[in-house]
Amino acid sequence: MAKRPAAAAPSTVHDDRIDRLFSIPGARTDRWRSLHAAAQAWARGRGERTAVEAALEELGAYEEFFAYPGTRLVSALRQRIGAGEAEGAASLSRRISESILTRAYKHDGGAWETAEQLADAPPGLVTATMRHEPGVRPYFEMLVVSPGAVERAAHQESELRRLRRPEDAFIYEAVPVGSFEDAIVAILLNPAIAAVTIYEGFDYSSRHQAPVLRSVLAAAGFDAAHVADDDMSITLAGGLKRLRPELDIYLLSDRQVERIAADPRAACVRRVLYSVEELLELHLSVLEGIADRFRTPFFDNLKKYALRPISTFHALPIARGKSVFKSDWIRDMGEFYGLNIFLAESSATTGGLDSLLEPTGNIKEAQAMAARAFGADHVFFVTNGTSTSNKMAHQALVAPGDIVLLDRNCHKSHHYGLVLAGGQPLYIDAFPMTEYSMYGAVPLASIKKALLDLKAEGRLDRAKMVDLTNCTFDGHIYNTRRVMEECLAIKPDLIFLWDEAWFGFARWSPFLRPRTAMGAAEAIEKWVADPASVEAWERQQAELGDSPSQETLLATRLIPDPRKVRLRVYQTNSTHKSMSALRQGSMLLVKDVDFPAVEAQFHEAVFTHASTSPNQQLIASLDVARRQMELEGYGLVANAIEVALDIRRAVNAHPLISKYFRVLGADEMVPAEYRQSGFVDFLKPGVSWQDQVRSMQEDEFCLDPTRMTLVCGTAGYDGTQFKKLMADEYDIQFNKTSRNSVLLQSNINNTRSDVAQLIRVLMQICGKIEDQLAHSGENGRAEFAARVKSLMKDVPDLPNFSHFHEAYRGDAGERTPEGDMRRAFYGAYYPEGCEYVRLEDAQCDRRLKEGPEMISANFVIPYPPGFPIMVPGQVITKETIDFMRKLDVKEIHGYERAKGLKLIRPDHAADSHRK
Ligand SMILES: Cc1ncc(COP(=O)(O)O)c(C=O)c1O
Repeated sequence: MAKRPAAAAPSTVHDDRIDRLFSIPGARTDRWRSLHAAAQAWARGRGERTAVEAALEELGAYEEFFAYPGTRLVSALRQRIGAGEAEGAASLSRRISESILTRAYKHDGGAWETAEQLADAPPGLVTATMRHEPGVRPYFEMLVVSPGAVERAAHQESELRRLRRPEDAFIYEAVPVGSFEDAIVAILLNPAIAAVTIYEGFDYSSRHQAPVLRSVLAAAGFDAAHVADDDMSITLAGGLKRLRPELDIYLLSDRQVERIAADPRAACVRRVLYSVEELLELHLSVLEGIADRFRTPFFDNLKKYALRPISTFHALPIARGKSVFKSDWIRDMGEFYGLNIFLAESSATTGGLDSLLEPTGNIKEAQAMAARAFGADHVFFVTNGTSTSNKMAHQALVAPGDIVLLDRNCHKSHHYGLVLAGGQPLYIDAFPMTEYSMYGAVPLASIKKALLDLKAEGRLDRAKMVDLTNCTFDGHIYNTRRVMEECLAIKPDLIFLWDEAWFGFARWSPFLRPRTAMGAAEAIEKWVADPASVEAWERQQAELGDSPSQETLLATRLIPDPRKVRLRVYQTNSTHKSMSALRQGSMLLVKDVDFPAVEAQFHEAVFTHASTSPNQQLIASLDVARRQMELEGYGLVANAIEVALDIRRAVNAHPLISKYFRVLGADEMVPAEYRQSGFVDFLKPGVSWQDQVRSMQEDEFCLDPTRMTLVCGTAGYDGTQFKKLMADEYDIQFNKTSRNSVLLQSNINNTRSDVAQLIRVLMQICGKIEDQLAHSGENGRAEFAARVKSLMKDVPDLPNFSHFHEAYRGDAGERTPEGDMRRAFYGAYYPEGCEYVRLEDAQCDRRLKEGPEMISANFVIPYPPGFPIMVPGQVITKETIDFMRKLDVKEIHGYERAKGLKLIRPDHAADSHRK
């Protein structure tokens, strides 16, 4: 191992701020605009050359990591400024600035020309090799890591451009860098990079001070001391893949190609080439690599299908659109949606279209490509939302009587899934956030305790699955790896179902990925295969001794026995919630070493739950969503995070808005005991990237920055009121509400204009509140204060899960609260066995005091908060009644105000027990 010089320390805390990394692309556009403004002022005699020079300096070293405008245009600009050509500098900086803003350089070859070539010379002079075909061919950038890359940049650029052919499906430009560090920086900063070519012999250290990234490099484990000279190419390839697994990596060497190709660590490299003679081969490979991600087998075929003149003699008259376009009465539907949607409709599984229920052709292929993209072994496309994906997972994996440990806050599809499958829920409560009327996530200690209790009672073999929501609605992210490892240490064949309905996009962020189900599963898979893991396990066993107490086990970070672990991880995600899929487009991801044993059960689950008339457009959109994320997901997700950080900063720092509204920071969403690293919040002064990365690695829970709880109770609005006001009067839609907050979510669709609009509207609302308070006198101000107090302080306690009635406990032991929910659910099908008690009746209080116990006959789910405060068979306690009585929401599923609570009569419950 060669020892290398240590990287320079960050220059200032400010440069190391978390939001800096995400704001670089946006800040870059702003800086080019400022440069142009300075050049224009200079040209009009209203500014100085020094201001233009300073603005160019401001652009800084980051420009090197983007292909456009590139060294040639920047040096032309520098020359003009140096030669005092103010007009020329202004016009070139305008063109560059506009081109970056509108992204015209991706499609317009002219954007790459210097002004001399474009304006001062006849158009015929522009060389064909430099032109891009306007509009048609998607554009990407290729990182080229090579010794002396920066010095030879112009040569390398033109070499690659010379290889372009009209037949090429895509067009690319090179981003040359000369060092390991610069390569990492480039792929983090520049989302347009889709392929990487590495030539041997590059340096390790960057020529630049890039403080914002130094700490990220160190925290991500890119430590100079651990990179050996002859390994550097492969180590770099591995590092790049770890950060952005979707990238295609090519390694060019003028020696030892066979040795490199045979190195197992080079498995992440798409092709190893002999550099002297292979430039055309490289070009073709790069295009093929992109084509491989671009291909959407189902969608491509659907487009072809739509072009064919097909006569249909089966159902679905809407297919081909004739009944629509020939109609006098519904033609507007055709005009609204356009012809293609009807041409692409079909109820057939023939003619090139595959069957979602038993895919053998292009759906199968599309699913396999999604599995590759999401890091799974298998993927099922689901066209009825994650509600269905969850029910499918429950049916396929859980048999009647199996115990499933789950968060009571889980989406209702899990609870209904268990009713259908007959699994017994062992509810574990999440930590409460009473002041905001919401729950957080389930502490690991509670999950371990439940498993250890089952073990103590000799029923651990019945525990089949742990089922959690990651991230939760409000953004709590689990330490997925730690949860799985510690649970596997207690029961090595447990199955994990991670409901990542909201979190599918996280795969495309290197900061969030390790906390996803598949990210963690990959890490555990590698750990299991590492021989050193057995030693770690043996060491811990020796320390724990023969019969460690439950307290010791709860206090220890348990290591599983890698030889016994059966890694069985499932993830469901609402692709439609965070990626470009149509409503209800969902995926079920599988990474299960024992999948062959349950595969048939999954097919049964598909047959049970999937419609036999799946919608072609939904399937196509899942295929396309995968394509988009593989080619531009990294940049889109980084942008969503930037938007979120912008909103957080703009709301909390604004002198007027922050008087009435506030976005809760990580410290307010995650209690200190679960933030072991001491992390406070993304934007707190002094908090650095290293702190953030440590928090992601160590903390029990982190906060997804894109999910923002905006407290509105302090402005006198309850969540529902505020959501309605924003939607009705300002056309701004929010996600969910609590008693005193609304949830904002940024996603891959948001832009900086959305942030500006939100801030403008919040300012207007705050202005109105100020006016009202100024004009409403003492009484009005007191009324406002009382309303705020009621919303913020008089909040009902959240009712924890009580227990199942004895009649539904079966052989359950003393220590754990699982029960046979399914029997209670079906018990409610017999009217003679049910009764109703109205909340406001004295009978309700009498029953609470004197009995007999009230047993819920069904799920009762108020919106918000949206989780079942009663489940079938659950004994209703005073806490639940108090909560119900204080609830001021209109929508309560499973509860008819006029009739009251539907209960199972205790004698009926007891009878059903005897049956
Ligand atoms: C955590 C969670 N899981 C599953 C679902 C259901 O997803 P879908 O709307 O795709 O059916 C939701 C819906 O809001 C959810 O919040």
